[in-house]
Amino acid sequence: MPTRRDDPSIPAWREDQLDSLSAPELETPYFDGALKAWVLSRHADILAAFHASSLSPASHASDHGSQPSGESAEGQCAEGQHDRCERARLKMRAEAMESLSPAQLRAWRDQLAPAARALADGLPVEEPVDLMDAYARPLCLSLAAIVTGISRSDAEQLCERAREISAAAAEPYDSALRRSAESLSAGLRNYFPSGPESLRESGFVALSQTMPCILGNAWFALLQFPQEWSLLHREPGLMEQAIEELLRYAGLVRILSRIATADIDLNGASIRSGDRIILRIIAANRDPERFSHPNHVDLARRNAGHLTLGAGPHACVAANLIRMAAITITRPLVQMVASASLSRPVDWQGGSGFRFPRSLWVHLTTGERSTD
Ligand code: HEM
Repeated sequence: MPTRRDDPSIPAWREDQLDSLSAPELETPYFDGALKAWVLSRHADILAAFHASSLSPASHASDHGSQPSGESAEGQCAEGQHDRCERARLKMRAEAMESLSPAQLRAWRDQLAPAARALADGLPVEEPVDLMDAYARPLCLSLAAIVTGISRSDAEQLCERAREISAAAAEPYDSALRRSAESLSAGLRNYFPSGPESLRESGFVALSQTMPCILGNAWFALLQFPQEWSLLHREPGLMEQAIEELLRYAGLVRILSRIATADIDLNGASIRSGDRIILRIIAANRDPERFSHPNHVDLARRNAGHLTLGAGPHACVAANLIRMAAITITRPLVQMVASASLSRPVDWQGGSGFRFPRSLWVHLTTGERSTD
């Protein structure tokens, strides 16, 4: 019996992984018979797909974004309901954007920052520490509680269920995990009675579970490029552009899916209505046509344009919230820590949706605390 990793109907580009020794291979768009889908990996092709009005998001890749009611299990609107679906999605986006105003993000940042500073100051330096359990997860759980307006004790109580829901997003081709996540998600709903739809249970899961994964990947990348960690320690003013570069290099989401709602020629690929399309996001973020020396972390890089949070009409509504959280949580860590090294091999978890360090055991060396 084929193992899950050997099953050709499940995407498994092993080089699209942060711990891979070889760089992702970029290809012109092609139809993969086993996956029954077009495969896009070049930055320009995926960007075109993000902006194509006849390509709609489909399930199998990212289920943290809320699906407006009226969509089928495939993530597509049922026949004849497209306009209603689209109106619901735009309403959902508008409500989320309003709740994620710059002023609101600043207020949340001011609540999160002192907690991050206190936790960073308390990290042990004489012995190894797991940055995921000791630092990333508690802070992301606090942020999830603040943003969704539930108490910290409710957040702690819901954490295990959120973890299982997130595990299904990391392994989108596992139908058993997906079914269990759907029923857990329905159970979570009662705890989040108010607020915009995307900032209820799905926002809670994304912030409490997916956010630590992004941080774990970003810090793993800094550990791979120690000179960049020490640069950030010396020059914390680089933080905003550093986070963009880490989102590019260490970005989380491996694949997203689309379904064609009409025939379309996309950079030479003749895609027919009803065809599925898989977008290899990590590969696109390492495209040498778009980024010079793409397989290196270069915190001084100024050309943004990564696709980690999507692009175009379906781009992540919480992109600035994620940036704020990544900056606010990473800043006190690198200000206190002059250098860090892995003290144990990383225990990677997840699957074709996204992969992340379950734990990140490191030795920290403190330096003179840097200031902005
Ligand atoms: C924490 C890490 C997160 C990551 C890595 C992430 C990533 C993404 C990506 C890649 C997309 C584009 C999907 C596509 O094009 O098919 C997306 C869409 C979306 N995200 Fe996020 N996201 C995160 C957190 C959040 C949070 C906290 C919220 C809650 C507000 C959120 C709400 C959404 C929504 C509603 C969409 C769909 C937008 C649409 O179709 O119009 N995301 N996200």
